[in-house]
Amino acid sequence: MSQRPNRKPKVALLYGGNSEEREVSIRSAKAVHRALTTLNYPVEKISVSKDLISRLKNARPDIAFIAMHGNSGEDGTIQALLDALKIPYTGSGVLASALAMNKTMSKRLFIENGIQTPSFVSARKESQNDIAEDIRSSCGYPAVVKPASQGSTIGLSIVKSAKELSKALKMAFVYDNEILIEQQVKGAEVTVGVLGNSNPVALPTLEIATKTKFYDYRTKYTAGLSNHIIPARIGKKQRELAKKMAVAAHKALGCRGFSRADFICPKGKDPFILEVNTVPGLTNLSLFPDAAKAKGISFKDLVSKLIDLALEEKSE
Ligand SMILES: Nc1ncnc2c1ncn2[C@@H]1O[C@H](COP(=O)(O)OP(=O)(O)O)[C@@H](O)[C@H]1O
Ligand SMILES: [Mg+2]
Repeated sequence: MSQRPNRKPKVALLYGGNSEEREVSIRSAKAVHRALTTLNYPVEKISVSKDLISRLKNARPDIAFIAMHGNSGEDGTIQALLDALKIPYTGSGVLASALAMNKTMSKRLFIENGIQTPSFVSARKESQNDIAEDIRSSCGYPAVVKPASQGSTIGLSIVKSAKELSKALKMAFVYDNEILIEQQVKGAEVTVGVLGNSNPVALPTLEIATKTKFYDYRTKYTAGLSNHIIPARIGKKQRELAKKMAVAAHKALGCRGFSRADFICPKGKDPFILEVNTVPGLTNLSLFPDAAKAKGISFKDLVSKLIDLALEEKSE
């Protein structure tokens, strides 16, 4: 039987889910869908719910494009299901996704690999005995309290003294049984995208200039509340270092395809890495696509590159 030459792989575009970042996922999927259609990929959009397995079996895709953020889709669970069904997918595998989703685990790996990250204390809901003492002896105040496994600045707050601690802990524990309390670092908010499998390369540094106190959910997803400045205004040496650190973090966690590392860069000092996102936002306001564009990679090119990288993985 003759095969159609250069038939594009059939893509199942997975989106939605029930994470706090569901709305962003829907927006990412819209943008990715538009790109895939323009590029002539046969594509089926699948809103992820209980019937995911039967929908995938019916769709019989060659590849799944995961446009899901947060603790459904970015944490390794969907990836495990796709592995079991032998469907290749964009982005990182099960372990890297799960490690990156948990900020405590990622920070342990950053430290082990010499990638500077703010000092921290981790705490679990069931044993909060000596947190105040631990904070005093390790990271001090002001400190940032956040759930270990959330995104989009959800459940995060700044604590200026021990007095404010219990309220902040309570808020973070709403979202996770595990939280971390981190030294607050003051400086420029910088993010660095990384693209590739075994030889990943960093995209240009991107500085986020916000008009709000935090780079929070509303700021991230409302046009005009933040500006992207490429490259970041942090000095050449720091820019190169942030790019090196982003690639090192991508490798330390075992990421594939793409990732985006968030940093705080204090003036004239080495950057501090905060976290790695394994499914960075792919909306028209998003950071990763903007940094890619600055390197001459259009949104369409990016989408097809992610598919190529995912299929390359399959043949390894
Ligand atoms: N240790 C810290 N020092 C200063 N600012 C922080 C710190 N941790 C978080 N932030 C602020 O909160 C934002 C979100 O934190 P981050 O760790 O990237 O989690 P997520 O993006 O998953 O919610 C950061 O972009 C930064 O503005
Ligand atoms: Mg972040």
